[in-house]
Amino acid sequence: MTHSNSRFNGKIALVTGGTSGMGLAAANRLLAEDARVVITGRDKERLDAAAEELGRRFDAAEAAERILAVRGDVAELGELDSLVETVRARFGRLDVVFANAGVAGFDSIGEVTPDEFDRVVGINFKGVYFTIQRALPLLADGGSIVINASWTLHRGMPGASLYSATKAAVHNLAHTLAAELAPRRIRVNSVSPGYIETPMFHDNVSPEAHAEVVTAVAAGRTGTAEDVAHAVAFLASDEASYVNGQDLVIDGGFVAAIPAPML
Ligand SMILES: NC(=O)c1ccc[n+]([C@@H]2O[C@H](COP(=O)([O-])OP(=O)(O)OC[C@H]3O[C@@H](n4cnc5c(N)ncnc54)[C@H](OP(=O)(O)O)[C@@H]3O)[C@@H](O)[C@H]2O)c1
Repeated sequence: MTHSNSRFNGKIALVTGGTSGMGLAAANRLLAEDARVVITGRDKERLDAAAEELGRRFDAAEAAERILAVRGDVAELGELDSLVETVRARFGRLDVVFANAGVAGFDSIGEVTPDEFDRVVGINFKGVYFTIQRALPLLADGGSIVINASWTLHRGMPGASLYSATKAAVHNLAHTLAAELAPRRIRVNSVSPGYIETPMFHDNVSPEAHAEVVTAVAAGRTGTAEDVAHAVAFLASDEASYVNGQDLVIDGGFVAAIPAPML
């Protein structure tokens, strides 16, 4: 199935945390544009369900050929190594890495325990860092890395000290790695989603808080996983060949614009 507007024909993409929310939507977008896609996640049942959902646009043989689902925890370096070996054996290379897997962790600074610190940093920063490090030998020259950061790196929110610091760290990687990987023409950018309706959002934002969130967004609505997937696909594609080391905020104007007059 080749699409006339395909930007990823012949490309291989890795999406960590591809079983839910923005990762799943990005995997779907890339598949729709003819990529072969590797998705990961820790929960085997969720992984199987996501692979089945993504495969619905194809017949069984094409789904099996285009989609590879690999169970793995990005915080475990041995599991990242197995992931990379599985991808190498199956596809031989990567063209796109969407380092998306992440977890929430919202507590005031006095409440953050060392274990919670290690959990959130272990997935959101160490996990992203080593996903990229381990994927690099497989990533083709001219490839693209997109990191999922967060609006919270741009605007302070009570209770987000730990989470936001991990997101600032991974956005900073986009600057440094854009420079460091320039000899290989690998571009590195991040996205900073705003309030995006995914399972993570619903686990952390109550229905009452939801109405308040919407009034703070210039667009007058929360975002969808597809809103972010479109931006990720743009950054991953050759259309963004002159976009490097940037963070693209996808938040309906939440960070930049106050939706109602303040004076
Ligand atoms: N939703 C928002 O409003 C929002 C806003 C800004 C930024 N973000 C960021 O966007 C990214 C995606 O979030 P989402 O909202 O789409 O969340 P989600 O629906 O909860 O999806 C998270 C995905 O990451 C996977 N994952 C979590 N920990 C993992 C680990 N250690 N190893 C491998 N996979 C792991 C999950 O699968 P398993 O649990 O099965 O492993 C799942 O596939 C995260 O980095 C998040 O911080 C979200």
